[in-house]
Amino acid sequence: MSLEQKIADTLACLKQIEAEYSPAIFANSYGAEDMVLTDLIARHGLKIDLFSLDTGRLPAETYTLMQETATRYPVIPVKVYFPDAAQVEQYVNEKGINAFYESVDLRKECCRIRKLEPLKRALAGRKAWITGLRRQQSTTRTEMQIKEFDSGNGLEKFNPLIEWTEKEVWQYIRDNGVPYNALHDQHYPSIGCAPCTRSIAMGEDVRAGRWWWENPDLKECGLHAKVSSLIKP
Ligand code: ADX
Ligand code: SF4
Repeated sequence: MSLEQKIADTLACLKQIEAEYSPAIFANSYGAEDMVLTDLIARHGLKIDLFSLDTGRLPAETYTLMQETATRYPVIPVKVYFPDAAQVEQYVNEKGINAFYESVDLRKECCRIRKLEPLKRALAGRKAWITGLRRQQSTTRTEMQIKEFDSGNGLEKFNPLIEWTEKEVWQYIRDNGVPYNALHDQHYPSIGCAPCTRSIAMGEDVRAGRWWWENPDLKECGLHAKVSSLIKP
């Protein structure tokens, strides 16, 4: 399928969400995929809100892009959610500032406090949320569908770029002069929190730089985990 067709299908999907799932909200991490969706929502004046989770540990380059995006797309403000300060204080004071390197449990606890709890607040009262997930991103994402019911959060979840390739994402960004994170030019295809993201070597998987010290099958922060995997002992 051509890129033009994929853009048309993605736009049709976003318009359907706007018409049938209002109020809907798009989760913007400022990654390359999310910049494509941001551009499409702004360009077509879609009534879809945007939010971003500021974990407090994002790379400086992501904050630069947040500002650039606000300047470039003033019509679509992105609401920023922060973690609960008391929970962050307790974790840091009891476990340590970088305790997430010590075990998967401590890493997941940090992600729970800094991402999952604020995500719940961001999604409250919404009929659907939208992400920039692509199937090709990792072994944990091959089963994902364009539309899934997110039973953990109790609303529909749409992944309109699910079939896009990385090449197509970059073609769109170049063709439309969309701003992007400067780290992408330094071999960081996937960007999350600064201490949990590194650059990748040639031939490595696009998410190899995320939580690189963990097993690839566990590398989800919980934003997109299936409920069954979240409640496993
Ligand atoms: S993550 O779960 O490993 O962090 P990834 O960085 O690949 O996910 O992003 C996948 C999608 O999750 C993004 O396209 C975006 O929709 C959502 N997402 C991830 N991180 C954030 C964030 N900090 N704020 C808002 N949405 C996010
Ligand atoms: Fe914490 Fe790392 Fe998860 Fe960010 S990605 S919330 S720093 S464990």
